[in-house]
Amino acid sequence: YPDEIVLDGKSYKTDEWTNIPDFILELTKRQLHQNPNHPIGILRDLIERNMKDMGYTFYNNFKPAVTTFQNFDVLGFPDDHPGRSKSDTYYLNKDNLLRTHTSAHELECFQTCETPGYLITADVYRKDEIDRTHYPAFHQLEGARTWSKNTPNLEEQILKDIESIPKTNIIVEDPFREQPINAENPKQDYMTEKQVQLIQVHLKKSVEFLVNQVFETARESARLAGSTEPYLNEPLKIRWVEAYFPWTSPSWEIEVWWKGEWLECCGCGIVQQQVLLNAGLGEDKLGWAFGIGIDRIAMLLFGIPDIRLFWSLDERFSNQFQQGKIATFVPYSKFPGIKRDVSFWLPTDSLLHENDVMEIVRTHAGDVAESVANIDEFVHPKTGRKSQCYRINYQSMDRNLTNEEINEVHNKVEADLKKYFDVEIR
Ligand code: PHE
Repeated sequence: YPDEIVLDGKSYKTDEWTNIPDFILELTKRQLHQNPNHPIGILRDLIERNMKDMGYTFYNNFKPAVTTFQNFDVLGFPDDHPGRSKSDTYYLNKDNLLRTHTSAHELECFQTCETPGYLITADVYRKDEIDRTHYPAFHQLEGARTWSKNTPNLEEQILKDIESIPKTNIIVEDPFREQPINAENPKQDYMTEKQVQLIQVHLKKSVEFLVNQVFETARESARLAGSTEPYLNEPLKIRWVEAYFPWTSPSWEIEVWWKGEWLECCGCGIVQQQVLLNAGLGEDKLGWAFGIGIDRIAMLLFGIPDIRLFWSLDERFSNQFQQGKIATFVPYSKFPGIKRDVSFWLPTDSLLHENDVMEIVRTHAGDVAESVANIDEFVHPKTGRKSQCYRINYQSMDRNLTNEEINEVHNKVEADLKKYFDVEIR
């Protein structure tokens, strides 16, 4: 790495934590959620329009570099949380990273927001597996809402606020399975049982409304496009499951039944008082927060088969989408892929993590890395040495690849595996 990395006009001195390839730094400039004619921007716009006049401020301009304090510490992440590790997170240096979630901006929003609630949309970054639905950059939409404890008749006010959320015809599966508020996920002392109950209902109704509107738009578009599938006329089915986040308690996750599968959609919960205190709000506030990943939902709504397409610069992609419309993506010609295997012996006590292999492939292949899979693993019965084999499919969305260029990329992948993890290529 160079001595410094400049990002959004700020300079970061690199150190032993720095682990951001140029490929990822380039992605931070794209800001797809701000493009009103891109599926991610169209979905953001749709959600904002549905939530208009409901007391939320919309934030769409937060830059992706944040401090470890904003992303983790202030939210109560324990020191040994795996999210903090270099194999999960892109660090500019020890104290600065690419946000791994929009919750990194909760503090500043709680501090500055002048309406009862806010919505943040932003690009977020995580090292992750490589497949059709995972990409190291994706987007989240975060929401939060607070009340002042000094509101006269606070409980009646929350009830009124609940009533003002438009009704949906969502079916809540198994509502009595409702998570008990338990030791793992306790009620916090700063609220009464009644307040927890009311805020929980407000949170769940708000999330159900948001999700229902999005999926209703998807059904509407499918009907307009002539689809007659029966699910288009059935009410949306959801369920609430228990979840755990360091900065909310109790916490839940909503799952949506869509085309025969439960989709994990959105984590949420009642904000830990410590976060509100950290934001300087004193003991006066209570509230909830949620965070939705929007790429997966956009893939469903727009019929996009591969998450990498969102980042395509090909006009055959971008010309298909327009502000305010949910059109179904029409695939364009695919180019053949080139498969290469890499097998190696690991040194004893190797620290090689699957994500490290993914990252090395990403670094050299960029978007041409279509998939990487660990296809074989065994321990030699005599020597006790461990062997692994990864199958890499190099495939471009936009062009034919040559064997020569892929050999070159693949050699670099092997060289890095040797250099950084001391493996013996077989
Ligand atoms: N930030 C969480 C995630 O990335 C989602 C979340 C947001 C959960 C706000 C609770 C409150 O999964």
